[in-house]
Amino acid sequence: MKRILVTGGTGFIGSHTCNALLKNGHEVYILDSLSNSSKKSLDHLKLIFSKKKIDISNKLFFFKGDLRDKEFIDSVFEKVKIKGNSIDGVIHFAGLKAVEESVNYPLKYWENNVIGSFNLFKSMIENNCKTIVFSSSATVYGNTKDELLKESADINPINTYGSTKFTVENLLRNIYEAKSHEWNIAILRYFNPIGAHDSGLIGENPLEKPNNIFPLIINAAYEQKNLKVFGNNWPTDDGTCIRDYIHIMDLADGHLKALNHLMTNNSQLINLNIGTGQGHSVLNLINTFEIVNNVKVPFIFSDRRKGDVCKLVADNLRAKKILNWYPNRSIEEMCRDGWRWKLMNPKGYS
Ligand code: NAD
Ligand code: UD1
Repeated sequence: MKRILVTGGTGFIGSHTCNALLKNGHEVYILDSLSNSSKKSLDHLKLIFSKKKIDISNKLFFFKGDLRDKEFIDSVFEKVKIKGNSIDGVIHFAGLKAVEESVNYPLKYWENNVIGSFNLFKSMIENNCKTIVFSSSATVYGNTKDELLKESADINPINTYGSTKFTVENLLRNIYEAKSHEWNIAILRYFNPIGAHDSGLIGENPLEKPNNIFPLIINAAYEQKNLKVFGNNWPTDDGTCIRDYIHIMDLADGHLKALNHLMTNNSQLINLNIGTGQGHSVLNLINTFEIVNNVKVPFIFSDRRKGDVCKLVADNLRAKKILNWYPNRSIEEMCRDGWRWKLMNPKGYS
């Protein structure tokens, strides 16, 4: 059993990862401002375990506050210390992630994603906690022509969000290089996480209008209103863009594996792509969703989205080899589980 601080733990990826941590017997300390999530996700998480007659009330702790407030982060470490314990490792999800908003409000993104991370790392150093898994994104690679993206591909973020992610990666790299035999760092570059826990109790709950394709497909199916498919003249078989969609539960499992790896090996810094290595076009995702869930997804074609990339698929061999991690849930399961979450929670957690 380890004590893990999870920043952003009530969010989409955070809540599923907390589920995986609790399932594996760890104690979870969530730090979240609730700026893009709901505290009700914790009740739903507890329900998953109570249905299995597992009591997690003394294993799950929540602290509401903002990473931009360093004293608040210090106070969380302090509260754990007062109980005679210490945080063994951190999974750092907290951050803002809307690409377009980041371009319009750069200072908001640098303050949240970079200064927030800076405060967290400073507090970790002061509390002698040197194990961290960081949420980065495939967006750091920018435009690419590679068939499968390796971690060694050129880094060239094309928007503010991507720049903040790469800056935090660099900050971690500098911290590691300064104390190379002390820190254990895993930088995970996610591709496109979708789906939900198969209980339908936790899932993606964006408080603002979503921009990503999967919640938009769900909403189009639910409301029977047209989705816009951005472009039908891309150089792919059906003319629509290709992405590497990964089931949120496989992504959560990747975090658990990364943490276990860091905690059982010598000091290191690793960058890992977390994707399935399989590409699916937008039309393919829509068709699969319709077939699996027996529901129509109305759509129209519109112009290409500015800044879009034709194809982004992970070379995930490094993550498989180093972590012994294998994403094994299919695109059908992603579609089925995402739809179940919507039907069971039409208004999310609210
Ligand atoms: P999310 O918005 O659902 O979760 C982020 C959580 O962080 C929210 O609960 C929010 O309230 C909290 N938060 C934000 N700023 C904070 C701050 N300053 N202090 C404290 N809490 C704060 O997003 P998600 O999809 O779960 O993404 C988690 C992480 O993964 C993010 O860092 C995101 O950039 C990264 N990521 C996500 C995707 C994706 O497609 N979802 C892809 C690549 C990378
Ligand atoms: C986006 C972000 C990226 C982030 C990733 C995961 C941009 C430019 N990039 O990437 O930084 O890491 O999400 O959160 O926003 N699509 C439509 N109609 C829509 C929405 C999307 O056809 O209404 C298409 C897009 O053209 C794309 C695919 O669906 O081909 C996936 O889009 P999206 O879910 O936004 O993910 P990414 O583009 O991969």
